[in-house]
Amino acid sequence: MTDTSGTPRTSRKSIHLAAHFPGVNNTTVWSASPRALGSQIDFASFTHLAQTAERGLFDFFFLAEGLRLREHQGRVHDLDVLGRPEAITVLSALAAVTERLGLAATVNATFNEPYELARRLASLDHLSGGRAAWNVVTSSDAFTGENFRRGGFLDRADRYTRAAEFVATARELWDSWPPGAERARAGAFAHHGHHFDIEGRFSVERGPQGHPVVIQAGDSSEGREFAAATADIVFTRHGTLEAGRQFYADVKGRLAAHGRRPEDLKIMPGVTFVLGDTAAEAQEKAAEIRHQQISPQTALLTLEQIWGVDLSRYDPDGPLPDIEPDYDAQLSQGRVRHADPRAVVASWRALAEEKGLSIRQTVIEATGRQSFIGTPAAVADEMDTFVQTDAADGFILIPHLTPGGLDDFVEQVVPLLQERGSFRTRYTGSTLRAHLGLAQPS
Ligand SMILES: Cc1cc2nc3c(=O)[nH]c(=O)nc-3n(C[C@H](O)[C@H](O)[C@H](O)COP(=O)(O)O)c2cc1C
Repeated sequence: MTDTSGTPRTSRKSIHLAAHFPGVNNTTVWSASPRALGSQIDFASFTHLAQTAERGLFDFFFLAEGLRLREHQGRVHDLDVLGRPEAITVLSALAAVTERLGLAATVNATFNEPYELARRLASLDHLSGGRAAWNVVTSSDAFTGENFRRGGFLDRADRYTRAAEFVATARELWDSWPPGAERARAGAFAHHGHHFDIEGRFSVERGPQGHPVVIQAGDSSEGREFAAATADIVFTRHGTLEAGRQFYADVKGRLAAHGRRPEDLKIMPGVTFVLGDTAAEAQEKAAEIRHQQISPQTALLTLEQIWGVDLSRYDPDGPLPDIEPDYDAQLSQGRVRHADPRAVVASWRALAEEKGLSIRQTVIEATGRQSFIGTPAAVADEMDTFVQTDAADGFILIPHLTPGGLDDFVEQVVPLLQERGSFRTRYTGSTLRAHLGLAQPS
């Protein structure tokens, strides 16, 4: 096996693992299972998932963000989980009930200011003993911007330039307290740039990690370039072996131009998993979960989001509508769009025709992102193959039950990864940078 520079690799790569707390999408299956009696705002739910992740020696716990309630046809979209608390607040509380687990907050670079956010992240880094991370997102749209009452948002092209300057400015602020600095000079900064023109004194001393870990989660060429220049971790959707390898090679290949090495950036796809005692049982369970995640109403609404047309008169168990989509209409607001709707419509029609699928079956099949399904041994095997063959450096696991969805993984899969020598058997450091093997900024 070779690394991206072609040098033979002699040792096994260590897998990095993170736990994603299920957010607003239709990931979570609210069933009567005792493992799903939590909620998206109840602190006991956060505690359970975080403490399970820490028992499993995970690198970090991850919270996504949405800055406006989603709407569909002018009404709040309430088929999924509705609303969620602010990430850094939740993570600050979790810092008190965990000891080593990294704590990663998604926070938007368009709707915040560097001084304020750098202060909050540095504070979390102090209070947690060096465990803070920031997932820098740039979305979304004018609809989200309305919540901020300052003329909405930024054009797409400007979002990453602002994000890049934001991260650079935050790092200047974190660096404004040099180690051993004279008190009289502490915190002095001046940043005169395109998006930010600020000068003053930063109020929080440098945290234990120097700079909190930076995560990036955008997929465009600009997003990948931003990650290569700036991020410590990329959170990606490319969860299949082939797509993963292509993404991995592409992003790692961009690092040298920024004076960075492949190991300076960890690539971690968001993945789901379903475990069973046999392969067949796991597949059966997975199918059942997909069925619960895509209710008849969710299937129709998913279709309406893409078609841009009210489809309420269609039967979810009947064929796809043969009417033409309205690509300019926006029935749904507040959801990040990832694909060209024309291409989606064409591929869904082809899929439904080829396999004779109903609306609901098409949505189930086409939107499935279940990555690892099988016995614990098969799942450990497959995950390890992904990492050892450079489709990923690790995974952000998205369980479908809240808050008990990680229990089985930690009890059954983690020990198998440890036996293979692919996963730590204890934490050797106390900071998130140490878990990730990342250098401390000078
Ligand atoms: C895996 C993944 C997770 C994301 N999570 C969030 C999120 O929690 N909140 C958010 O506002 N945007 C989220 N985004 C959106 C991205 O941050 C980004 O703004 C968006 O994908 C547009 O950038 P792009 O054109 O580079 O993809 C996510 C994107 C990806 C790929």
